[in-house]
Amino acid sequence: MEIVDNSLLLGGIPTRSLIEEFKSPLYVYEEDTIRERARELREAVTFENKEIKFSCKANTNIEIMKILKEEGMGIDAVSKGEVFAALKAGYDSSQILFNANNLLWEEIEYVVSRNILVNIDSLSQMELFGKRYPDSSICIRVNPNVGAGHHNHVITAGPESKFGINGNKVSEIKRIAEEYRLTIEGIHQHIGSGILDPGIFIMFMDILLDIAKGFDDLGFIDFGGGIGVPYREDEDRIDIGLLGKEITEKFEKFCHEYGKKLKLVIEPGRYLVAESGFLLATVIAVKDGERHRFVCVDTGFNHLIRPALYGSYHEILHTGNSHGPRIPQTLAGYLCESGDTFTRDEEGIVDRNLPVFQAEDIVCICNAGAYGYTMASQYNSRPRPAEVLVKDGKARLIRRRETLEDIFRCSLDFS
Ligand code: LLP
Repeated sequence: MEIVDNSLLLGGIPTRSLIEEFKSPLYVYEEDTIRERARELREAVTFENKEIKFSCKANTNIEIMKILKEEGMGIDAVSKGEVFAALKAGYDSSQILFNANNLLWEEIEYVVSRNILVNIDSLSQMELFGKRYPDSSICIRVNPNVGAGHHNHVITAGPESKFGINGNKVSEIKRIAEEYRLTIEGIHQHIGSGILDPGIFIMFMDILLDIAKGFDDLGFIDFGGGIGVPYREDEDRIDIGLLGKEITEKFEKFCHEYGKKLKLVIEPGRYLVAESGFLLATVIAVKDGERHRFVCVDTGFNHLIRPALYGSYHEILHTGNSHGPRIPQTLAGYLCESGDTFTRDEEGIVDRNLPVFQAEDIVCICNAGAYGYTMASQYNSRPRPAEVLVKDGKARLIRRRETLEDIFRCSLDFS
């Protein structure tokens, strides 16, 4: 992203041209940023026997998954749909870990029949899995009993969390494994999402490594995802070099003590794709209410739900007047709910000092590459936007805009 003569360019292309060609609203991804993040992470973790699995719940655009495959990533998939997308993108079964929470049998059958390793997250399901697939290999998701994350909704370990098997249940895990001759190939944890402090990640690594000592012949340890990216201008970028170095050192020391060079796995989602993505929208109207100036755009929480769901902050740019004078404004969507605003916290509207907007201006919502399109819906019967990949001044449509027929295709009148 760059600003030239007050005009915002993505992948070297003026945003107005992108909107003219592909229409508004539009998701745009910069390919270089995706590759850069992947390379950065791969180089930061110098431990040789490692696998970085892209947690594709962050972005399941198949073309983006292909790029990450080219960059040497594997896949963390949580549903049959995500496995389907990964296979379509060309990933080999051996690169995919099936990480569902509360696994459905239909999905288990689908992945087992494709030789994909299943990460089991409850003792009762482990027992059923053992009965159904004795003599097989599995991964075990543990709950280390403490978690972290940018919002309560995304803390995925600890006493309030539904995920994983309690870390103090090692003997029960081993008993079931023995009964059904299950090989525990790996153990896994994912503590939460949006962590900007490397110290937290390292501290949680220790907890899982401690649990790992209880298992005799592991093949890998998966420390999950969670690496955050700065959303606000005043937030610092995580020192990925330092994080990679600390992860490597800790893991090397552990392997030495364990007596075997295990595989190190991490599962970043957000880190790889968040900053590559932008949601472009067009201003429909500007209106002065009693308390707020509303800049109303042709998108809403149907396309980017993070502000409405978590009160998340996304930087907002005026694509044609970024250096102009700023006044407090509220960026509002077009859905029929008051919560449909992009400048907000968990409680409600928070005006932001933004360049003055007028009807037909183009707005750019930044950091929309992770949990943007994948969490989008058809609420208010509005189609989901198109997605475009940009690089070196060229744009490529990587998912077409939905049509009304797409929305109603499963209705009786259409099937
Ligand atoms: N592994 C597992 C098992 C996960 O559940 C997740 C995310 C990840 C890896 C990747 O986490 P990441 O590196 O992206 O932080 N919708 C929320 C984020 C939910 C994350 C859920 N699990 C948001 O927009 O902030």
